[in-house]
Amino acid sequence: MEKIVSTGIDELDCLLGGGFKRGDIILIIGPPGSGKTILSATIVHNIAVKYGVPCLYVSFTELKHEFYENMARLGLDFEELERRGLIKYVSMPTMGVKELIEDLVDYIITSAEDIDAKVVVLDPLTPITLMGDPLRARVLFHNTFMRLSKLGGRLLILTGDIPLEEKTRLYSVDFIADYIIRLEYSLTRSGVLRRVMKILKSRGKEVLYNKLDFEIFEEHGIHIATWHRPLSAPSLTTGEHVPTGIDGLDKVLAGGLKRGSSTLIYGPPGSGKSWILLSIACKCTLNGEKVSYISMMRREEAILSQLRWIMEDLDKVLEKLRVVYVDHHDLTPARLHRILSGIYREFTPSIIVWEGIQNYVLNIDFNDFYWQLKEYLNINRSVKSVMVSSLTEGLLSERAFRAFLELFDNVFKLSLEKRRDEVFRCILAEKIVGAFLPSKRSAIVTLSREGLRVDW
Ligand SMILES: Nc1ncnc2c1ncn2[C@@H]1O[C@H](COP(=O)(O)OP(=O)(O)OP(=O)(O)O)[C@@H](O)[C@H]1O
Ligand SMILES: [Mg+2]
Repeated sequence: MEKIVSTGIDELDCLLGGGFKRGDIILIIGPPGSGKTILSATIVHNIAVKYGVPCLYVSFTELKHEFYENMARLGLDFEELERRGLIKYVSMPTMGVKELIEDLVDYIITSAEDIDAKVVVLDPLTPITLMGDPLRARVLFHNTFMRLSKLGGRLLILTGDIPLEEKTRLYSVDFIADYIIRLEYSLTRSGVLRRVMKILKSRGKEVLYNKLDFEIFEEHGIHIATWHRPLSAPSLTTGEHVPTGIDGLDKVLAGGLKRGSSTLIYGPPGSGKSWILLSIACKCTLNGEKVSYISMMRREEAILSQLRWIMEDLDKVLEKLRVVYVDHHDLTPARLHRILSGIYREFTPSIIVWEGIQNYVLNIDFNDFYWQLKEYLNINRSVKSVMVSSLTEGLLSERAFRAFLELFDNVFKLSLEKRRDEVFRCILAEKIVGAFLPSKRSAIVTLSREGLRVDW
């Protein structure tokens, strides 16, 4: 096994500069059900598979068959690891008060040495910290953990359900640990569990992002959302600008949407945001761009029927267009990240169109959303993909709304205006990156079967 050990969780490895070091002590803390066992098991599993090295898992709560079954549901095959001699699972769900902490510790060390384990997990540490005389136990733990980790060149993973503040009960394990990872959860406004991983200590290294959303996902295990990394490189066609195909818009945009830019179209309900978004999506596909149209408002069928009205012959458009409905009710940042990652991986769009972005903001804390979107738009800028979004006005607070507009390179406002007996759709250019705003700031938008026109 190399000096730097990959955890096999790509996003975590990236933050850690490749992984943990041999000899590191990792303390994973968090309340019940926060994912301590699953995170430890994932790391052990991945290391055993990748490096073909034996590992020891000591559990003080879960029986072997239970643990193996639970992990199998997450795509981690411990049966197979055991067959290959890569895991020894020791289960000690009950311990009598008469048992000696010295014997227990001896047993763990002997087990690790017997199989020449390269990773040792003690999950959770809490029961053994409650045994014996505190002072003796403290010295013993210190020696044991050092012997298992630093001296033995093993990765030692310890879990604990005790808050960090109660240091005495964890016998200062938090001081000898090289890493402290805290897992937390809360409920979103719509009542969905949102999980967060905080890297609170990383000895000898700076971790750039210390708070990460993650998700535990049936069959796939842990998915960590890292918004500062590209989801994938887009499939680019050439040209610095992507024409929207709507003449008036292309004129004010000095040729079209700049690669790497983000555009927001906002306005009240019914002002025609989706029409513009869909028209741009259609025209861009006909120019050879791959477009993902993500909606947080309407199901695929509703979008496709609107598309059919815009374009009779949809076959050509659909070769390059993917329409995806994302239900925002059970969305968390990690789930959204996973959905987007899937879209990027499978389809590699060069243009992302995102309808009804406000529905997502209604579900999670605006500050979190703001920072994540900022990272995401930045990364889109660097990989030169284009993003076009729509936002319904009036659903965010004024302060949040202003902060939100700041994130985009181009901002257009749609409105419905009554002149005498007629209602007109108007578009107003509020901000355009790298071009002068037109002297006449607003224009009339007309929708007809011949297409969408903007008379600037
Ligand atoms: N197959 C699965 N699919 C999705 N989520 C799952 C699955 N199995 C478990 N979970 C989630 O993981 C949680 C349990 O995670 P885990 O056992 O790692 O927590 P823990 O921090 O070790 O808890 P404890 O302190 O009780 O040991 C469950 O509450 C559930 O929300
Ligand atoms: Mg557990």
